[in-house]
Amino acid sequence: MKRVLVIYGSTTGNTEFVAHRIGEIMANEGVAVELRDVVNAQISDLFSEYELIILGCSTWGEEDIGFQEDFESFYYGLSEVDFTGKPFALFGCGDSGYKHFCGAVDELEDRLQQQGAEFVGAALKIDGEPEEALEQIDQWSSEIAAGL
Ligand SMILES: Cc1cc2nc3c(=O)[nH]c(=O)nc-3n(C[C@H](O)[C@H](O)[C@H](O)COP(=O)(O)O)c2cc1C
Repeated sequence: MKRVLVIYGSTTGNTEFVAHRIGEIMANEGVAVELRDVVNAQISDLFSEYELIILGCSTWGEEDIGFQEDFESFYYGLSEVDFTGKPFALFGCGDSGYKHFCGAVDELEDRLQQQGAEFVGAALKIDGEPEEALEQIDQWSSEIAAGL
């Protein structure tokens, strides 16, 4: 059975909701999914025996891009780690009314890419309430699961 770790940071529960939905859909596709709030995650978790790491972070900023508060220190911990050839998938919640829609996801992608990571599919970006984006979440999750 393929193993996937989903690490997420969420303030109002939206990214957490998406993480759980991803977990449900992927589990239905026969994937063993572990969900972990970023407050309980460590960089070393990324190097455990998972086929794929999925990182989820909401964006909190105004003029500048801000990471979800719990995710910020995890993000800084990623610097200077060698991720050469390591597969990741990314998702996040945001609001397109802000200047940098899901900017935290973009920053995360840039950072990981610079450090050698590979991405499975395009990042999933949820605009507004995730309960209204179930089709988008389900399709993304199924595609990621199928590619494992
Ligand atoms: C003060 C504030 C700043 C925000 N800044 C951004 C932003 O820069 N870009 C964006 O896409 N969404 C922004 N959002 C929207 C949140 O990312 C969105 O509500 C998200 O669903 C929160 O997810 P969470 O509950 O998982 O933390 C902001 C929301 C607030 C209240």
